[in-house]
Amino acid sequence: MTNTNGTAPLGLLTGKVVFITGAGRGIGAAAARLFAAEGAAVVLAARGADALDRVVAGIRADGGVADAVTLDLADPATVRAAVDHVGELHGRLDGAFNNGAAIQRPGPLDTTSDEDVDEQFAVNFRAHWTAMTAEAALMRRGGGGAIVNTSSIGSRRANPALPAYGAMKRALNSLTETAAVSWAGDRIRVNGITAGGTATRMIDTWEAASPGTVERLTAHIPLGRMAEPREIAEAAAWLLSDRASYVTGALLPVDGGAGA
Ligand SMILES: NC(=O)c1ccc[n+]([C@@H]2O[C@H](COP(=O)([O-])OP(=O)(O)OC[C@H]3O[C@@H](n4cnc5c(N)ncnc54)[C@H](OP(=O)(O)O)[C@@H]3O)[C@@H](O)[C@H]2O)c1
Repeated sequence: MTNTNGTAPLGLLTGKVVFITGAGRGIGAAAARLFAAEGAAVVLAARGADALDRVVAGIRADGGVADAVTLDLADPATVRAAVDHVGELHGRLDGAFNNGAAIQRPGPLDTTSDEDVDEQFAVNFRAHWTAMTAEAALMRRGGGGAIVNTSSIGSRRANPALPAYGAMKRALNSLTETAAVSWAGDRIRVNGITAGGTATRMIDTWEAASPGTVERLTAHIPLGRMAEPREIAEAAAWLLSDRASYVTGALLPVDGGAGA
């Protein structure tokens, strides 16, 4: 299968089954394409079936192995059912990229609504907890695996613009480290990526609500530009691969230097 991103595939994920949430667009869709090009059989998840089907069709057209399953990260039963579906399709799970998330209506803290806090908790935090426990159970059947969670540079310090989002991503960092320690004996590695500003619909939504956001964020990025979704996916591919065999409990900044 050819990698259409300009870099030659290395077979980094050859023979692995990888589950990806938030795979209908943005970072998750780029990850699905990249992981498939690197040899994985991928299972893509999000709410929107049409978007998932388009990404799946593109991967299959390039010779890759891909399937889709819908889930709502706000609903734990659908999250468990999606992971079960991976087991039915492939009988095992080697990698999981827990990447799907929602942005909140921008702050300030004082006016962030209870509804936004509840959604951020359910979609950006609890869903990952639920997914990780289901994924770990399936991975143990195959003797281990690797999990990568998409966190954010917005988790690292105060986040006045996105206070509930930042808090839930910080909680996800804690969960990532705890899972890494808890499951090391099961040969399951767990890492997070603290992504910086990346050109996706999430940023478009933030820019629409708070004009000037992209310019403000970019001004603080030493590399002078936002990430392309594939650049976040590249780090996830490595963390999911056996080439990262001694990396667990890490929160890897992929942010163009913005957090330095
Ligand atoms: N873009 C950035 O600058 C940036 C920076 C740091 C971290 N991140 C993180 O990167 C990850 C990917 O974000 P992105 O920028 O690629 O955003 P995006 O383009 O908005 O994509 C989000 C994905 O998540 C899915 N999703 C959203 N809510 C969902 C729900 N309730 N249930 C199931 N799926 C849901 C969406 O599909 P449906 O709507 O069809 O469900 C979509 O596939 C997120 O964890 C985000 O917090 C992004």
